[in-house]
Amino acid sequence: MAWRVPLSDLDYGEAEKDAALRVLASRWLTSGPEVQAFEAEFAAMVGVPQAVACSSATAGLHLAFLAVGVGPGDEVIQPALNFVAAANMTIACGARPVFADICALEEPTLDPGEVEGLITPRTKAVVAMHYGGNLCRMADLKRLCERRGIILIEDACHAVGARYGDGSGRGPEGLMAGAIGDLGTFSFFSNKNLATGEGGMVTTHGAELAERLRRLRSHGMTAPTWDRHRGHASSYGVVLHGYNYRLDELHAALGRAQLAKLAGNNGRRRSLLSRYGARIAGAAGAWRMPFAERICGSAGHLMVALAPDGAQREQAVRRLREAEIQSSLHYPCIADFEAFEAFRGARLAQTRRFVERAITLPLYPTMSPDSVDIVCDILLGR
Ligand SMILES: Cc1ncc(COP(=O)(O)O)c(C=O)c1O
Repeated sequence: MAWRVPLSDLDYGEAEKDAALRVLASRWLTSGPEVQAFEAEFAAMVGVPQAVACSSATAGLHLAFLAVGVGPGDEVIQPALNFVAAANMTIACGARPVFADICALEEPTLDPGEVEGLITPRTKAVVAMHYGGNLCRMADLKRLCERRGIILIEDACHAVGARYGDGSGRGPEGLMAGAIGDLGTFSFFSNKNLATGEGGMVTTHGAELAERLRRLRSHGMTAPTWDRHRGHASSYGVVLHGYNYRLDELHAALGRAQLAKLAGNNGRRRSLLSRYGARIAGAAGAWRMPFAERICGSAGHLMVALAPDGAQREQAVRRLREAEIQSSLHYPCIADFEAFEAFRGARLAQTRRFVERAITLPLYPTMSPDSVDIVCDILLGR
């Protein structure tokens, strides 16, 4: 279906075309200098010494769990309001996902109080997902994890370019998403702020962790193909059991072109969010917008509105579809999926209320302010 206003759209042009042609002209397609440059540029943007590119964020989450030793018998506390990748990778490691609730309808990120109540001697890691590009309560989560020797992993797939600031003057003020926990994972899937089709990145401060991630990414091998191609190594050892989760040169070159546009594009996303916020706050009928007071540090990945109740949400979804405006839901509650029946535990009351009332609306950097007005008119039944 050709939508009048789609949910997301790429900002692709000459820079991405030039990047792709540069790789084709180089006659080197798999991991090499473009991947190394993308890793260095991404690490500089996040403010960490180490960034490890991989084939997707799902692969990145798997690598992150494996690198810190998540395994059978371990528990990983994570939000039930998330894309299913972190939960699936927890299970892929033989560990158990433990689902925690969100703070509030207007702050749909992991509730540190709830996390504290779910910690057991088997808790190995906590996954903090920065919903919509808005950072979790990282000061509290970091304190909680550090005190107990629990690994804190940021699922920063929505939050490329987001900056922490809760205004309290304490905690990791001013740090970027992916630089606060022990590891950060990012996605470059087509609808993300930095889009390459498929692709991901894992960030960390730890040199040893990064080395482990690099080896796990490529079959546990000690020397990458690029080094052998340049004559830096003629053979290789295998020091652990790894995977092929490498990124290739074409995707890395596209990523570099997109990274150069990131700050400008995130700024445009924030200004569109402010316009949405003004329209929703000014509307009678109690529609609300999560994180409306915190747009300035956000990556502005998603525009989510909360209906006064589930019935009004369904009516709005229907009106939008009839007007050829695409909408979505981020996300169904993971604990309610059939495959996660065995892992239902906490009540998740806020998550379930959120899922009933939330609607994701179009947002992308090339969207016009007029389109925001059109979407709001239909959403609010004008
Ligand atoms: C929050 C979150 N985590 C993980 C993923 C998985 O990313 P990928 O598609 O790159 O594997 C996504 C992608 O949709 C996501 O939005």
